[in-house]
Amino acid sequence: MPFASAVRLVEVGPRDGLQNEPEPISTQTKLELIDRLGATGLGYIEAASFVSPKWVPQMADHREVMWNLARLDGVTYAALTPNLKGLESALECGAQEVAVFGAASEAFSQKNINCSVAESLERFAPILERAWQANVRVRGYVSCVLGCPYEGEIAPARVAEVAKALHEMGCYEISLGDTIGTGTPLKAKRMVEAVAREVPLAQLAAHFHDTYGQALTNLYAVLEEGIAVIDSSVAGLGGCPYAKGASGNVASEDVVYLLDGLGIETGVDLEALATTGRWICEQMRRPNRSRVGVALIGAAGEV
Ligand code: HMG
Ligand code: MG
Repeated sequence: MPFASAVRLVEVGPRDGLQNEPEPISTQTKLELIDRLGATGLGYIEAASFVSPKWVPQMADHREVMWNLARLDGVTYAALTPNLKGLESALECGAQEVAVFGAASEAFSQKNINCSVAESLERFAPILERAWQANVRVRGYVSCVLGCPYEGEIAPARVAEVAKALHEMGCYEISLGDTIGTGTPLKAKRMVEAVAREVPLAQLAAHFHDTYGQALTNLYAVLEEGIAVIDSSVAGLGGCPYAKGASGNVASEDVVYLLDGLGIETGVDLEALATTGRWICEQMRRPNRSRVGVALIGAAGEV
């Protein structure tokens, strides 16, 4: 299949990127990060996660972040909502879109959201219903699509089954998460093919982590399958608190560089994005995981 002519990027840095950071990051820094990201041309930013602060302390200021966003025209500010409590709170704070997050692995579901996959789907149904009443679209995540830290291999058919359930429930897009980054290109292709038999390809997104350095290669493979929505995180920030060993998401700068090179439009200013990546690494005093960012504007932020 030919590549899509344009790819929509979903920036998950402020949420997936920061959620696992052990040191507290100030609300002000989060707000400035989101502001800077919006100014690069990104049209969709996952800004916060309305989860339990006991489970993910770094996201405890989700209300302050969502309330105080300097909202730019043309940018959608979204939030993760694991249950109705999170949804109500996100709606009060002006989230424009929300996401529910399930898994293709039973063990991961238990560790991450404290319920089975079937129970999670039951929990999501009223979220979809309530969001629909509020005129807010819901995205659905499936985690562990190319491997699980507890169960190992995950069958593509299982991923397809969970994706189908989320789609039938009303999620407008299903993001396929290689949570621990163990995927390789052919497996990624087979998985997308299996899911695309149940959910239209145009409603699928790739959410790849780079733990094993495979994320860009895997993205190229699924772009060949026709995927046209990619989740990424500035400076390759990230990791999942309930997926031991999971490192960052694929870096947004690296994805934009790849897509620019393929002649695929993103609407994102690469230099501004790389500058933002360097800035957040300086703030957090951590290395920049974007190879492109470092090559373009130096490794400031490296410690
Ligand atoms: P639980 O303990 O079963 O829930 O957790 P509960 O209903 O018994 O509540 C426990 C406490 O949490 C209560 O407080 C609730 O009020 C509070 P207490 O009475 O003990 O003081 N609580 C909340 N507080 C704020 N906001 C809420 C909320 N809900 C309950 N929404 C729960 C179940 C789902 C809440 C918990 O497991 C949780 O928050 N999990 C989140 C885990 C998480 O955020 N993981 C990372 C995101 S997923 C990911 O990164 C993967 C992804 O990127 C894709 C990929 O890479 O594959 C999306
Ligand atoms: Mg993730």
